Amino acid sequence: MRAIHCVLRAVVVAAAIGIAAAGLVSSVPAIAQQPKVKIGLMLPYTGTYAALGTAITNGFKLSIAENGGKLAGREIEYFTVDDESDPAKAPDNANKLIKRDQVDVLVGTVHSGVALAMTKLARDNNTLLIIPNAGADEITGPLCATNVFRSSFSNSQFGIAMGKVMAEQTKKTAVTLTWKYAAGDESVGGFKEAFEAGGGKVIKELSLPFPQVEFQPLLTEIAALKPDVVYVFFAGGGAVKFVKDYAAAGLNKTIPLVGAGFLTDGTLDAQGDAAQGLLTTLHYGDGLNIPKNNAFRAAYTKAYSTSPDVYAVQGYDAAQLLIAGVNAVKGDLSKRAELVKAMETAKIESPRGPFALTKSHNPIHDVYLRKVEGKENKVIAVAIKNLTDPPRGCKL
Ligand code: PHB
Repeated sequence: MRAIHCVLRAVVVAAAIGIAAAGLVSSVPAIAQQPKVKIGLMLPYTGTYAALGTAITNGFKLSIAENGGKLAGREIEYFTVDDESDPAKAPDNANKLIKRDQVDVLVGTVHSGVALAMTKLARDNNTLLIIPNAGADEITGPLCATNVFRSSFSNSQFGIAMGKVMAEQTKKTAVTLTWKYAAGDESVGGFKEAFEAGGGKVIKELSLPFPQVEFQPLLTEIAALKPDVVYVFFAGGGAVKFVKDYAAAGLNKTIPLVGAGFLTDGTLDAQGDAAQGLLTTLHYGDGLNIPKNNAFRAAYTKAYSTSPDVYAVQGYDAAQLLIAGVNAVKGDLSKRAELVKAMETAKIESPRGPFALTKSHNPIHDVYLRKVEGKENKVIAVAIKNLTDPPRGCKL
């Protein structure tokens, strides 16, 4: 009798466990069984652009955190590569993420030469690529692709804006100076085009190889040329040194220095007095008094105990763009056409102000004229409203 009882109890318990187990399986939401979304971050974490890569990473992760730390309910796994801003290493580095780690989306990078290599590989492998800085004009020009997006800008945009502003200020002659690679060439090219269209003349185009910072001979040449204005493209550690060297040479007292806003973004603590009063053009300004920027700056400062800059904004917006796409397909990344459509038509509430994308996947945004006041790039005017890419042969 007892034996029968025991057997019966065992059967009842086993059945209960079976029912519970079955219940457990069916009550777990389907979403928890989906694999993690693999995100590859290919950014500079060493070298002159190291701080830029970190700010982009921080901004990206802040947006994801505000989205509950997930993408359409799916967990995220990050794969990170330091690209060192070295174009020669770019194909190997990108392939680590695309082929070895098989990421679902590639996010990067800062340097245009590296981003051009990433774009070619993303096109060949049909990998979704979101570029959170590098402005190479070609990427949203002849190299544009359905799977390649940019949350930042194209390089010529800020040169065009500053060329227009300087011509309006009736400056007659300019000297340009930059690192000799796509970003600098295109930034300076935009300046020259707009400045000369407005009646000015670029009398000399100076350059040095990236990422060199031996500015002294170039400053001597500028002093001898005595232009009405000097337009430069420098960023990160190189921008800090250039602004300090320009002031140390006393040139800030005699020849106004202007530039694409990277010259003074994320750099003001290190540049100190040398940066005061500098005019730059960019799609962002620290003190932009709009609710989204105020909330973003407060959240970023709380999370990272440091102030955000334009790179943090672009990282944040890269994630916002991805979230718009992934939400539209409820996390099913195999629905690529739908995902792309949602990203293409997204209205991004950016700390820079709301933006939409051009057909070639580049933001359409206001470009601001900013002036350094203390530790702030203060917006003093809108240089060009709703600036898009010039048409450049993108066939999408
Ligand atoms: C670029 O290489 O496209 C580039 C790098 C740093 C910047 C802006 C553009 O701040």
